[in-house]
Amino acid sequence: MIEKNNISLKPYNTFNVNAKAKYFAEVNNVSDLKTFLETPLFKNEKRLILGAGSNILFTKDFDGIVLKLNNSKIKLISETDDSVFIEVDAGVEWDSFVKYSIDKGLSGLENLSLIPGNVGAAPIQNIGAYGVEVKDLIESVNIIMLENHEEKTILNGDCSFGYRSSIFKNEFKNKIIITSVLFKFSKRNSINLEYAPLKNYFAEKNEGEITSRNIRDAVISIRESKLPNPNEIGSAGSFFKNPIISKEKYDKLKTEYSDLFGFSESDLNIKISAGWLIEKCGFKGKRIGDVGVYDKQALVIVNYGNATGSEIVEFAEMIKSKVENKFNIKIINEVNIV
Ligand code: FAD
Ligand code: EPU
Repeated sequence: MIEKNNISLKPYNTFNVNAKAKYFAEVNNVSDLKTFLETPLFKNEKRLILGAGSNILFTKDFDGIVLKLNNSKIKLISETDDSVFIEVDAGVEWDSFVKYSIDKGLSGLENLSLIPGNVGAAPIQNIGAYGVEVKDLIESVNIIMLENHEEKTILNGDCSFGYRSSIFKNEFKNKIIITSVLFKFSKRNSINLEYAPLKNYFAEKNEGEITSRNIRDAVISIRESKLPNPNEIGSAGSFFKNPIISKEKYDKLKTEYSDLFGFSESDLNIKISAGWLIEKCGFKGKRIGDVGVYDKQALVIVNYGNATGSEIVEFAEMIKSKVENKFNIKIINEVNIV
């Protein structure tokens, strides 16, 4: 267990924002975690559970305890004729687990390659990319309730998973710690090439058999071409969620903008690209001081150097109000603002 006072959180968030934590602690396993939960420090202070800090924006110093869970085991739980069950600790880096699963010959997670962050945070916003969401492979999520330190297992069907959403981001927000996640891999090859840019990538290459490993390589290559590398430019990936609008509104917009495209969410609703809306408002590549909209993907707000969290939020609010004025569509934050 490591405890520090008054530390900078800059190395702990991919936006590279400089905010301080009054207290900061790291624990390496659930037993130490449970001991720590009983300490007066944890009981009496305001708390924040931190993963790899890749979906969080600090707008001020954190006046309480920031707790980082570094448990790091990956365990094969069971195997049947059809499936393999693997339990992964919250502190494992997400992409190293994706790589591990592919190295073991398991398919399903390859489309989610190179997403920053740790396994513990993956169910929180139900991470997704290239036509796959992590809920597709989650069997259950192990948590500790903060009010009574009770350990519980939440089955997939009780997680209220949706687009960038779950029970952990809503009802359970600030009330639980995710300690590990149980994944179920199908032994049937279940590759998914529904997402157009991925399908086009393979259509252009025409390389013969498509495997989980070459889907991983393709996803990494596409991501590197349009998303900032967190080691080089600060960001939290998409700052906003893609909005879901009525089919009626979509049809109306489409008559004005022939390049608009959307994904059907239901018979009545269509998900459209927030990046497209932001680009149409003229923000792509725009920079004010150290805050900007990434020039290859308008959904990503970047910190070019020493932007503060408040400057980033101010910039995001300006984008939201321009989009609302132009299109009468409200876009909402995907990033967790603290
Ligand atoms: P953090 O940012 O540390 O935390 C996120 C939230 O979860 C916070 O509210 C935190 O308090 C809470 N939390 C974290 N761990 C726990 C825990 N163990 N128990 C309880 N609460 C916890 N996301 C996608 O879905 N798809 C993408 O394609 C994608 N691309 C990205 C690209 C870039 C360049 C970046 C920087 C981010 C991207 N993201 C993407 C967002 C991010 O990678 C995910 O949201 C990721 O799951 C965050 O993990 P983390 O460990 O960094 O969480
Ligand atoms: N587009 C534009 N301009 C832009 C960006 C996008 O017009 O600047 C339009 C283009 O038509 C493009 C389409 O939007 O073809 C889709 O773009 P992209 O494939 O980059 O996906 P996205 O909808 O912008 C979402 C996720 C990403 C995820 C990708 C790939 C959200 C909020 N974002 O972005 O997730 O990696 O799909 O599946 O759903 C994240 O959550 O942090 C994140 C990066």
